[in-house]
Amino acid sequence: MPAPRRIILDTDPGQDDAVAILLALASPEEIEVLGIVAVAGNVPLALTARNARIVCELAGRRDIPVFAGCDRPLVRPLVTAEHVHGKTGLDGPVLPEPTMPLAPGHGVDFIVETLRREPPGTVTLVPIGPLTNIAAAFRKAPDIVPRVQEIVLMGGAYFEVGNITPAAEFNIFVDPEAADIVFRSGVPLTVMPLDVTHKALTTPARIAAFRDLGSEVGRAVAAWTDFFERFDKAKYGGAGAPLHDPCTIAWLIRPGLFSGRHVNVVIETKGEFTAGMTVADWWRVSGRPANALFMGGIDAEGFYALLTERLARL
Ligand code: BDR
Ligand code: CA
Repeated sequence: MPAPRRIILDTDPGQDDAVAILLALASPEEIEVLGIVAVAGNVPLALTARNARIVCELAGRRDIPVFAGCDRPLVRPLVTAEHVHGKTGLDGPVLPEPTMPLAPGHGVDFIVETLRREPPGTVTLVPIGPLTNIAAAFRKAPDIVPRVQEIVLMGGAYFEVGNITPAAEFNIFVDPEAADIVFRSGVPLTVMPLDVTHKALTTPARIAAFRDLGSEVGRAVAAWTDFFERFDKAKYGGAGAPLHDPCTIAWLIRPGLFSGRHVNVVIETKGEFTAGMTVADWWRVSGRPANALFMGGIDAEGFYALLTERLARL
């Protein structure tokens, strides 16, 4: 068995972020979490930094360093998504306030220092919120860029277009300038867009499977999915809700669950109606070189089976 992938999770929890964190912590054979960096996104930074620690404590992992990163996008005012995730970002179950402290220092410095310390090509970045921290680290320390093994991110959309504007997905929309830096960085990118996550919807049976684990983790995950399902069902119609962010971790554990194409992806930063759009050259008509593995398909049954099996370990 290959050595586990060593990752930094960059996140704005968010119920689906929380499930991604739990999936990573439940999968030590495949994934070693070097640290978690919070970013402003679904809710302001103070809450995402709090929520990340709640999730670590729920998993019994007070040893994971959790850092606070950037509290706003590189150039734009922060846009949040309480309408989806609730006032705390993690609405649903009642969970205790965290007692573990934040790790000292700025999250961006943690990213820079980790990449400088570890051998080149051995650290993967997994951003599942706006790309502010990653872009800030690349701007501050360009020497780390070629040292990154890969970036596996949740963000963007092509055939599914937008969820926060008609053209843009939330994570890219919140900080398009940061996304632009990341997509131009030359680091190998794997992108989990809405095209994938909208094919991985919750169902009553899938939520029941979480609840039936009979553990605190199982009950929390069922309550989180119950909570945001209400909003998503109203928005998208009868079907369940997409569980976006855990797709990144599932890819690292079981890549065979997903399919995609190596294509060129550029970020629209200027459009009046299209800012934050991921312009993915799916049909390869632009002549621009491929810079991302842009995913399009998922075995949803396999994904939920993996998730349930791993959450059962916590
Ligand atoms: C993304 O936006 C957030 O609301 C979710 O946590 C996910 O990362 C989906 O568009
Ligand atoms: Ca997120």
